[in-house]
Parts: sequence; structure tokens; C-alpha cells
Amino acid sequence: MLTSPSARTHSPARSELSAALAACRGAFIGTGLVSGMSNVLMLTGSMFMLEVYDRVLPSRSLPTLVGLFVLIMFLFAALGVLDAIRSRVLARVGGALDESLSGRVYDTLVRIPLRIGSRGDGTQPLRDLDAIRSYLSGLGPVALFDLPWIPLYLAICFAFHPLIGITALAGAIVLVVLTLVTEIMTKAPTRAAAEAAAARSNLAEASRRNAEALVAMGMMPRLAARWAEANSHYMRSQQRTSDIGGGLGAASKVLRMLLQSGVLAVGAYLVINQQATAGIIIASSILSARALAPVDLAIANWKGFVAARQSWKRLSMLLDTMPALAQPMGLPAPAHRLAVEGIAATAPGAAKVLVQDVTFKLEAGQGLGIIGQSGSGKSSLARMLVGVWPPVRGKVRLDGAALDQWSPDELGRHIGYLPQDVELLTGTVADNIARFEPQPDAEAVIAAAKAVGVHDMIVNLPQGYDTPVGEQGAALSAGQAQRVALARAVYRDPFLVVLDEPNSHLDSEGDAALTRAILGIRERKGIVVVIAHRPSAIAGVDQILVMNQGRVQAYGPKDEVLSKVLQRPQGAATATPIGIRPEKSGGASA
Ligand SMILES: Nc1ncnc2c1ncn2[C@@H]1O[C@H](COP(=O)(O)OP(=O)(O)OP(=O)(O)O)[C@@H](O)[C@H]1O
Ligand SMILES: [Mg+2]
Repeated sequence: MLTSPSARTHSPARSELSAALAACRGAFIGTGLVSGMSNVLMLTGSMFMLEVYDRVLPSRSLPTLVGLFVLIMFLFAALGVLDAIRSRVLARVGGALDESLSGRVYDTLVRIPLRIGSRGDGTQPLRDLDAIRSYLSGLGPVALFDLPWIPLYLAICFAFHPLIGITALAGAIVLVVLTLVTEIMTKAPTRAAAEAAAARSNLAEASRRNAEALVAMGMMPRLAARWAEANSHYMRSQQRTSDIGGGLGAASKVLRMLLQSGVLAVGAYLVINQQATAGIIIASSILSARALAPVDLAIANWKGFVAARQSWKRLSMLLDTMPALAQPMGLPAPAHRLAVEGIAATAPGAAKVLVQDVTFKLEAGQGLGIIGQSGSGKSSLARMLVGVWPPVRGKVRLDGAALDQWSPDELGRHIGYLPQDVELLTGTVADNIARFEPQPDAEAVIAAAKAVGVHDMIVNLPQGYDTPVGEQGAALSAGQAQRVALARAVYRDPFLVVLDEPNSHLDSEGDAALTRAILGIRERKGIVVVIAHRPSAIAGVDQILVMNQGRVQAYGPKDEVLSKVLQRPQGAATATPIGIRPEKSGGASA
């Protein structure tokens, strides 16, 4: 029918979130039906009362009373079962929604910083999903499912007597207005509370990460003050939403009780005028109170409802801007060349071009050194080579296929990357080298460690390869962590290895091992790109690319480029315009 394949894969009309919820349609229809039955059964109490007053008492018939009582026992039992089913189903809808989306949300969470930059507020998407799930599993939706049944109760009140019906209707209108007021008044504070929560958790995370600097330089009290401010801001906004919900909830409860008495009074008036029976006044007063009970409940849970809706909106927008990564057809492992064609980069979410017009080509077995001053765009270029920043112009190709034609998982296997700021993940040394493969291959782990000359260092650790690296690798020294990360980059011999300042923390022995590793990659017909400030790191490469202010200043065989660039007339005092610092060792100076 209407479901052509293309319509199924890309239907912008319905967000991913709605689709996930629509998958629970069956559960919602079931809940609706159960709610219907439960609402009809809710009439049991008042009907029983009506029968007792108007039939049992006048006839003084004990058998009728017993019969009726047995009947309502069954009805109430059924009601209990239905209500239990309903809340179980709703709790499971929340769980199912979470299950179907949490993977996607995690995926988005990781990719946000690469797409929209640090404007993305950290773990907000996770909190949003939590808010939606906890609302769905609470009492709020139960109340919403009961609201549509209010007219049924009102209709019965009208059937008893128009005057009773009108009184109940007036009460209902007041309560509905109260609900609307709640809706309008809680929106802004709820949003503010979510924003305050995000600010608070970002600050906490940043402080945790920079604990050493904070403590060493006595910045803690200042940060603590900022934290207290963020925290109290959060608390205040939370309190405001609670106050509004609580105040209006109390008002609705009182109004509802007042309404019950009001209906009783109207009923009494009718009895006095002999227009109704005693049974009717009691039944209708119970009925009208019952009719409006969901409104109370809904108002009491309105805060959660608004929060869930706002979370829903944020999350749908996020999932729409970060569509699930396509899983393109598999490609053969690259083995021949890396071609970079006029690429340009901007930082995620920013407009300023940081790197432009970079073009070069490397064949298997070649090694490229990228040099240039701080801020010249070397790391940005490296990020494009490994596919974490998609180029805004141009292409990076491996054996002719642009990086975006690869499925990310598959591409990852062919790429080794050592970021400039090495951070290991909580786990053992072996886990980190093996890139957290579920079943790391011990042989491959050791081969990688040996390739970068870190095997001896690792076996000297207290538990060797099984030494935990601590949170973010904190249990290792910076040099050790860098060398473990280097082993991770060459694990399972990826075709393209990009190393961003791999020797920034290395000693001379580490430098020599690095050069051997670079030569090893070239010997096995891989391609290696090394970014460096110190010449020792580029000892193993044969090509050089000099970056300057985001552009290629020179590119070609190493000796040619180095002699050309180093001979250029330059300001006497500065070390070198290309950002290569002379080796510390063996200098004859001073
Ligand atoms: N995430 C980012 N958001 C905004 N600007 C960025 C971002 N990353 C880098 N830049 C900017 O891009 C420019 C190049 O940065 P890059 O990190 O590529 O330089 P680099 O050559 O690697 O420097 P270094 O030698 O100090 O590592 C700098 O001006 C920097 O301010
Ligand atoms: Mg850099």
C-alpha cells in the first residue's frame, strides 16, 4: 500500500520518538479499553447505594441485600484486577520505550559533541528519556485515561435530575479551568528547572574532571560558590513547579469536596420538593466526586506531564537532527591509498573555517609528517582524516571510497587514531588496547604492545595487562597512558594510523620505539600520518606537510620540504615558523 521502502526509511512526518511510542499502540488501546471497563465498574459503589436506599430499605428484603452484596464483591474484585493490569501495562510501556530508544540516545549522546559542539548539554538526553519513562510509569497517564470518562458520570448525574447534572457540570468546568491554569503556570518553571539541572550537572562534571587544578590552586571555594548558586537555582525552580502543582492540586481537591456537598445540598432540595429519592442524592453526590477525581490526580501529576512533554520535544528534535547512522554496504578492506581532496573543516556547530584546501595523496607504505605552529589546524586535519569531523568541503577517500560510504563500525577497524589529549576508558590495560572488544585476542594485544615498544612497561605494572587503568586512565602516568593509547591505535594492524603528537609525553626510549612503530606500519604496507612538534617523531616518515593558518604551506618528500622551509628567511628570535622545536638532547648551546 503506502509503505514503499523509501517512505519507510525516511518519513520526516513522524519523529523517531513518535514511531517508538506508536509501536506501543497496542498497549495504549488495551489501557484505554481497561480504563473504560474500570470506569464503568466504578459506578458499582454508587449504584449499590442507590439500590440499598431505594429498594432494600423500603422492602426490608434481606435476600436482596445479600444478593446485591455478593454481586458487588465480584465487581469490586474485577475492578481491582483491571486497575492492577492497567498500571502494569503502563509501567511496561515506559520500559519498552526506554529499551527501544536508550541505544539510540546513547549513540546520539556520544555524537553530539562532534556535530553541534559543546552547545549540546551533556547528558540531558538521558535525563529526558528518564523523565518520559518515569512519567509513563507513574499515576499521571492513568488520570489522563480516566479524564475522557467524565462525561459518562455527568450524563448519569443529568439522568438523575437536570439540576444535579448542572451542578456537577459547573464543578467540572471549574476544575478543567484549574487544569488549564496549572498547564499554563507550570510550563516555564518546568523548563527553567530542566535548564538549571543541566547547568548543575555540567558544572559538577567539569569540576570532577579538573579536580587536580582546582585543589592545587585553591580554586575549590570559588567553584563551590558557583556550584551552590547553580544548585540553589535548581532547587528554587524545582520548588516553584512543586508549589504551583501542590497549590492548585489542593484547590482542586477542596473544590471537589465542596462540589460533593453541593450536589448533596441540591439533592436534598430536590427531596424536600419531592423530585428525587434519598438514594439518588447520595449516589449522585458520590458519583460527582468520583467523576472529577481524575482531574485532581491529573493536576497533582501535571508537573511530570509538562516535564515529560518538554523532554519529548527536546529528544525528538535531537533525534531528528542526529539521524541514526546509515549502515552502508560492506566494502573490501582498504589496502592501497589515502586520498585527501580539497578538504575544509569547521568546528562542530561553528561557522569559522579552521582548515581549508588541503589536498594530498598517500600510497600504502608511505608515512606523512604534519608539522606547523600551534593552532595551525593540524589536529583539526587529523580529525577529518579519521572521520570524526566530516569535512564541510572536499572528500577523504580510502581506496577511492569516501569515508562517509563506510559503515562507522567497519571503518573503525581500518583506522588507528591517537588523539592529542589521550584519555583511556575505565577498564584494564588489555581492554583499552583491544578497544573494548568483548573477547580481546591476547596475541593481538601483545603484538600491538610490542609494535609500539610498550610490552615491557606493561608487564612491569602490578597486574600486567590486567592492571586497571583507573577512571579515565588516572592510574597510569601521562607517558604510560600515551603509550597504551599508541598500542590501541595499532591494534589489529589498521590500514590508516593517525597519531596526533604521539611523543608529547615520551622519553627518548619511547621516541625510538615510536619511530620503530612508524616504520613497522609502513613495512606492513599501512599508511601512517604523524603530527609532531619535535623532529624525533617524524624520523620514520618520508613525506612532510606543513600547515600554516589552516592551509598547506608546503608538501612533498621530507628532505625537500624540510630543507626548503628551514632555509626560508625568518625572524631570528622565534624557534621556527613551522612549529618544529629543536631537539632538547645533544644541543651545543649554553
Ligand atoms: N572544537 C573546537 N571548537 C572551536 N575551535 C576549535 C576547536 N578545535 C580547534 N579549534 C580552533 O582551530 C584552530 C586549529 O586548532 P588545532 O587544534 O587544529 O591546532 P593544532 O595545529 O593541532 O595546534 P596544537 O599544535 O596546539 O595542537 C585553533 O585556532 C583552534 O582555536
Ligand atoms: Mg593539535
